[in-house]
Amino acid sequence: MLKLPLVASVLGYAATQVRAFGFPDCVNGPLSNTTVCDTSASPVDRAKALIAMFTTDELVSNSNTGAPGVPRLGVPAYQSAEEALHGLANSPGIMFADSGDFSFATSFPSPLHMSATFDDPAILAVGDVISTEARAFSNAERASLDYFTPNINPVRDPRWGRAQETPGEDPFRSAQYAYHYVQGLQGGIDPKQVKIAADCKHLVGYDLENPPGTNRFIFDAKISPQDLAEYFIVPFTSCVRDAKAFSVMCAFNALNGLPSCADPFLLQTVLRDHLGFDEERWVVADCDAIEFLFDQRHFVTDFVHAAAVGMNAGTDIDCGTTFGDNLGQALTMGLVNTTRLSTALSRQYASLMRLGFFDPPDNQPYRKLSWTDVSTPSAQALARRIAADGMVLLKNSGNTLPLSSSIKKLAIIGPWASATTQMQSNYAGPAPFLVSPAAAAKSAGYTVTVASGTGINSGDTSGFAEAVAASQGADAVIYAGGLDNSVEAEGMDRTTLTWPGNQLDLIAQLAAVGKPVVVLQFGGGQVDDATLKANPNVSSILWTGYPGQDGGSAVFDILAGKVPPAGRLPMTQYPGAYVDQVDMRDMTLRPSSSNPGRTYKWYTGTPTYEFGFGLSYTSFDLSFAGSTKSSYDIQALVSAGGSAPFIDRALLDTFEISVHNTGSVASDFVVLLFANTTAGPTPLPIKQLVSYVRAKSVAAGSTQSVELPVTLGSIARADENGDSWVYPGEYTLLVDVPTKVTHGFQLTGTKAQVGSWPRSG
Ligand SMILES: *[C@@H]1O[C@H](CO)[C@@H](O)[C@H](O)[C@H]1NC(C)=O
Ligand SMILES: *[C@@H]1O[C@H](CO)[C@@H](O)[C@H](O)[C@H]1NC(C)=O
Ligand SMILES: *[C@@H]1O[C@H](CO)[C@@H](O)[C@H](O)[C@H]1NC(C)=O
Ligand SMILES: *[C@@H]1O[C@H](CO)[C@@H](O)[C@H](O)[C@H]1NC(C)=O
Repeated sequence: MLKLPLVASVLGYAATQVRAFGFPDCVNGPLSNTTVCDTSASPVDRAKALIAMFTTDELVSNSNTGAPGVPRLGVPAYQSAEEALHGLANSPGIMFADSGDFSFATSFPSPLHMSATFDDPAILAVGDVISTEARAFSNAERASLDYFTPNINPVRDPRWGRAQETPGEDPFRSAQYAYHYVQGLQGGIDPKQVKIAADCKHLVGYDLENPPGTNRFIFDAKISPQDLAEYFIVPFTSCVRDAKAFSVMCAFNALNGLPSCADPFLLQTVLRDHLGFDEERWVVADCDAIEFLFDQRHFVTDFVHAAAVGMNAGTDIDCGTTFGDNLGQALTMGLVNTTRLSTALSRQYASLMRLGFFDPPDNQPYRKLSWTDVSTPSAQALARRIAADGMVLLKNSGNTLPLSSSIKKLAIIGPWASATTQMQSNYAGPAPFLVSPAAAAKSAGYTVTVASGTGINSGDTSGFAEAVAASQGADAVIYAGGLDNSVEAEGMDRTTLTWPGNQLDLIAQLAAVGKPVVVLQFGGGQVDDATLKANPNVSSILWTGYPGQDGGSAVFDILAGKVPPAGRLPMTQYPGAYVDQVDMRDMTLRPSSSNPGRTYKWYTGTPTYEFGFGLSYTSFDLSFAGSTKSSYDIQALVSAGGSAPFIDRALLDTFEISVHNTGSVASDFVVLLFANTTAGPTPLPIKQLVSYVRAKSVAAGSTQSVELPVTLGSIARADENGDSWVYPGEYTLLVDVPTKVTHGFQLTGTKAQVGSWPRSG
């Protein structure tokens, strides 16, 4: 079958028509008196007992995400390709009804937007709502129990079209996001009754779509052990080892010469041996990545060898049809064996045992969830609140925001003025409602004139006059624009970081009118706001991301002052010239003659807005409280941390920061704690995030104390082999962006190893 390398997941899905069809009957069905249905046996033993009953043909046919099951045994068809990136999303395993019950689910903001809240309990709460809704769909036989989420590749390059799907550029932030989101989805950390199964994707080093000269299906990412250990793998360690997700997706790209889904070093040595991914957990190939081993990458000479090399390397299930179509022949040819195929399937079925798929429904609380648990008032409120909480105020001259009560008439201009589905980013499903900025302004009581003015990426100026006229008649101008999925998407990176089309020209004309101008910068990837920052007539800039179903309401919650902004940028906003300074295919992070450095940790230039930046409607004084030590002995820390499950998670200390609201309105405040040091391998990073917390509703004039734990792992640095160490030397803790207060301390003793990177070959 001819396939174009455009959006592989969609193509893989199209070839995979199997839907979800309910649960096996372990009370009266053919399996009821076997080990498979014996809830006192271990999940792996139960899965092995099941797989032992499969014929070779049945083993082969069930090796795709669209699995027909085994009807003679009462094992139903199962479709594990499901998406829940920020709400249940259109995907093969989810059947939304055309209308009425089960025709929609709560649609939260994009992950990058939610990440900007720096509010881990909120991320957990979102995961919890989504898994509740997923179970309700499953109980109605409209969904399975596996979800290909979260996407946790850190955003190395700001051009990446899928940055919106991720928690951003910082590995520590992404690790924390994964930990809390997976906990919400799975119902805890490795709980006995698992709610739904999460998937950590994409292992590893996947962060480009189609830069000049390559594409994600054929790209070979050259990454040093040092960068793998301290950047690319960090969110996976959290998602796999710490949060215990039930599946991992191997990526399209190759890593240092071997395609990820055909790389035993990655799938066995790193994933299973090093990160502890056990026999209840399975590796799924990104959709059609196995097929592409042959017909895109020409790594092998035919589909049979593609299937064999993928399975032998440790890919268990194929999102696609290459395994199902070709493993039979590969077995006949002796390229793979049934032992390996049985292990692959047993891993997926063991995860289903953990999900209670083969258990009697009676004592399973999740089997009781129903349509009344979907899109509840509290889920709707959370979607609106997290949308507002993730917005980042970048500029607010003359305190234009919140809008004064004398402002009654608004001109809402721009390609996002009446946005509906645009607000949902990608990997979304039908929402209960979509409230655009213009609709929300009307609901908030404003008199509104709407003019689109221009498109996202348009050179057409014919709408400018109407937009300028609307602005002249208004008390204030709200420009709603930026990016959307027409310029950043799966399969499409950006080639520039500037505002696309003629949007800046239009904003300049609106600014010349002389009314207060508020720019809402929508989209995932950052655009260079330098011109807007410098224009004195542009009063305010608010990054509004992809805010989800109630995005318009959330915008006006902020503009009207109902919710004070406290989000922080989860990405550096680079100057537009950045794209000319480093090749997108260059995977290195550290500055060099061909790279100004990547992310706030290494970028040597001056960003337009820094990672972690974000203004408030009030002002805060910060100070270190409690006792702050000025010296720690490394060997004492390590031996005290000996009882921690993993030494990298042992504490250096918990620092207490007093957050004093010196202004006149109550507001949340995100405390970001970075560290820098002169210790360890050179070059030295500028700083790195080591802890954060979102203080909630700090009342005007009051002080709230927050605790910021700092682990040995977060202050450790990786050497060239990828082993990480706590080095003796001078350290400084830096609070807030830009830095407001600091605290210096010393680590004494000798360097101690707190992490290792497996050696290949
Ligand atoms: C399971 O065993 C019980 C007790 O021996 C028996 O009554 C029942 O018919 C068996 N069920 C099946 C499906 O074989
Ligand atoms: C089956 O194949 C795996 C590789 O996938 C190999 O490690 C194993 O030794 C083989 N087992 C048998 C019994 O041939
Ligand atoms: C700002 O607005 C004033 C009039 O209100 C105008 O004279 C001036 O040119 C504007 N400046 C810019 C940079 O748009
Ligand atoms: C850390 O950064 C601060 C502020 O930029 C600087 O003054 C200090 O020298 C740095 N400290 C170390 C140990 O690098």
